[in-house]
Amino acid sequence: MVQPPAANPGSSDVAPPCTDPPATSQVFRIAHLSDLHLTSTDDGVRTETKVFKALRGMNAAFRKVLADPRVQGSDLVLVTGDVTDRGEDASWDVFWNAIGAAGLLSRTLVVPGNHDVCCLDLRLPWNSDGATQADVERAARGLQKGGQKSEFPWVALPAPGIAIFGLNSNNLGNSSVVTNAMGVLGYRQLEKLARALYQHRDVPVKIVALHHSPNIPHPDTERIRRLSPTGTLARLLHELPADQRLGLRLLCAAHRVRLVVHGHLHRLEARRIAGTSLLGAPATTDPWVGPEGRVEYRVPLYTVAANRSRVTREVVGVAATGRA
Ligand SMILES: [Fe+2]
Repeated sequence: MVQPPAANPGSSDVAPPCTDPPATSQVFRIAHLSDLHLTSTDDGVRTETKVFKALRGMNAAFRKVLADPRVQGSDLVLVTGDVTDRGEDASWDVFWNAIGAAGLLSRTLVVPGNHDVCCLDLRLPWNSDGATQADVERAARGLQKGGQKSEFPWVALPAPGIAIFGLNSNNLGNSSVVTNAMGVLGYRQLEKLARALYQHRDVPVKIVALHHSPNIPHPDTERIRRLSPTGTLARLLHELPADQRLGLRLLCAAHRVRLVVHGHLHRLEARRIAGTSLLGAPATTDPWVGPEGRVEYRVPLYTVAANRSRVTREVVGVAATGRA
């Protein structure tokens, strides 16, 4: 288990006190990481391998991203799920050890993804009793290693005027790999979120974090945005149910949520619906061929401030080794 670092007034890793009156013009910087797919050993291979090329090197890529000065300079590292590739305790240890070594433990918030909690194999019907509870406990173990909250929704107040609402959007208790990527929020979680949003109605910057997309655009819209169109089957297997994603978006509109951040689709996207910015992160540890053939890991950085509704987004590339 990773122990939180000892409080050290001289350390840059000590979170700023939240007792001062809100400085409304103060800028708050968020590094959005997602879909790390860390493995228990550094030579591990990712489950979703490409046909001709196994994906590996995620652990090293993650450490490289954490060492980047722009990530180091963020007020918050927000991780939207699939921290691990198969949810093993040893993979969570890789995550928390890297976060601790980078001095980011007190500035990191995590929500789980389907690879952290769901069944990626096959649950036989006579072996599925208590599956949902087992999935919940599995996520809780990994999150608690870093002192994270493991009941959802949670609310975190990382700085004056900023509230983060974390959700578990995964299909807990799923039967097999076929259904592992489907999203579920459930009425009870949405109802608790509604109450939490109301309770924090005076906090000017509200941000919701979850693994699944609250809105996979229509294929025609995806083409216009130069995204690969999501086919009917892929959509069915990766989406939140219509009533739940609409319910979430209505809550966000009604409570003036500034940002909804998510992962899951491993693609960079940004759109605005009813006053809320919906921002999707790519898989942080996926190499990307950037300008001039440089291989990079992409990290969206957001800045928010209580006194302005606009969110700024900058996508930075952390250099990997070599060229494409
Ligand atoms: Fe993923």
